Amino acid sequence: MSKYIVVGGKKIVGETRVHGAKNAVLPILAATVLNGNINVLYDIPRLSDVEIMTKILQAVGCRVYREGEALVVDSSGLNSHEVPEDLVREMRSSFIFLGALLARHGSVKISYPGGCEIGHRPIDLHLKALREMGAEIEEKHGFLYCKAKKLRGCDIHLDFPSVGATENVILAAVFAEGTTIIRNAAREPEIVDLENYINSMGGKVSGAGSANIFIEGVNELHGVQHRIIPDRIVAGTYLIAAAITKGEILLDNVVPDHMQSVLHKLREAGCKVECGSNQIKLVAPDRIKSIDTIQTLPYPGFPTDMQSQMMSLMTTSNGVTVFIENIFENRYKHTEELIRMGANIKVDGRIALIRGVEKLSGATVTSKDLRGGAALILAALAAEGTTIIESAKHVDRGYDHLHEVLHALGAEIRKM
Ligand code: UD1
Repeated sequence: MSKYIVVGGKKIVGETRVHGAKNAVLPILAATVLNGNINVLYDIPRLSDVEIMTKILQAVGCRVYREGEALVVDSSGLNSHEVPEDLVREMRSSFIFLGALLARHGSVKISYPGGCEIGHRPIDLHLKALREMGAEIEEKHGFLYCKAKKLRGCDIHLDFPSVGATENVILAAVFAEGTTIIRNAAREPEIVDLENYINSMGGKVSGAGSANIFIEGVNELHGVQHRIIPDRIVAGTYLIAAAITKGEILLDNVVPDHMQSVLHKLREAGCKVECGSNQIKLVAPDRIKSIDTIQTLPYPGFPTDMQSQMMSLMTTSNGVTVFIENIFENRYKHTEELIRMGANIKVDGRIALIRGVEKLSGATVTSKDLRGGAALILAALAAEGTTIIESAKHVDRGYDHLHEVLHALGAEIRKM
């Protein structure tokens, strides 16, 4: 099992480019089945989650290959509506194939995704919305059998602005009869990227980025070239790497507007943050200031995907910070590992109370999920001595060669 070995105490200093956003890439890869044509995608990071999506695309008959800087998906040979069970189990977000295959094929067999490291993660909102559009869905023996001769546009109200449910409905509605409206839709930038991608191949989606999304059904789509938006979570993680090591960093290929909630918190923590049109510069203070409260919320609130990294930063602050995790009930697994490194943290349900300490100390810890693993690496960069972070595979799901990027910025980090 691979692990990271970090010798703490080196400042992160320098400039780096941020890669394309995992959470934009995954639904767009699922959406490539829609056009039955060539999809040329740029800025696709080399992540294990992307590999799994690629395997699923190949399993349903698509050709997928790298050509220079681009990832090409040719979906003209689509010949199956079954998403392999082992791959859905490996990556929950492959459930996004439900909407895409239903739209293109009229039927889908997909295994029930179940829970994951960060919580129970139900799919009731996805299924309710698709049923409202006329899909017949049977749940038996751990599988979902979905079919619809022709989905019909309708007015859907999501009880919660779920990212995955919003995306599944957009994909399902692309060829539906009439117009589908999603109310209380998720407003994440990755949904805007999905809208742009679908529209570039001839779809008619509008309103993404607001709470109401409109999808007018079309009859066919054509080939497309698309560049993925920068990863705001990877960008935030690099900023914290500089902040926690008293360093300074310049990020290229970022959209500062996508990161306002995180940038505001970093300023509150005493960092100097300056933004250009596609750059962010951060200069860390000598001592990080505690922040009164950080609560995770749907976009544009503070992202749950940045909660654990921000918590690492606050463990070294000069006071007390309260975290409230409103999105996933089981997203504090990194706290017990941070405590092993000398952090002072008390958790009660969705609330975590952090009392900053002068210094963290190196220890052997285990990454239990993607962002929690990143948080442990950040803590290790600032800790005294050597930290071994086991189960590096979680981090590989969302960061393209994180150790190489951090090493180039001055960290003493190896992956074994
Ligand atoms: C996506 C992101 C993930 C991020 C999350 C929240 C991808 C691939 N993943 O996950 O990185 O942490 O958004 O920003 O884009 N819910 C229900 N019923 C449903 C669906 C969701 O109750 O049918 C609940 C979930 O349990 C959770 C909340 O809604 O409490 C948010 O989940 P959702 O927005 O759907 O997250 P994902 O799309 O799974």
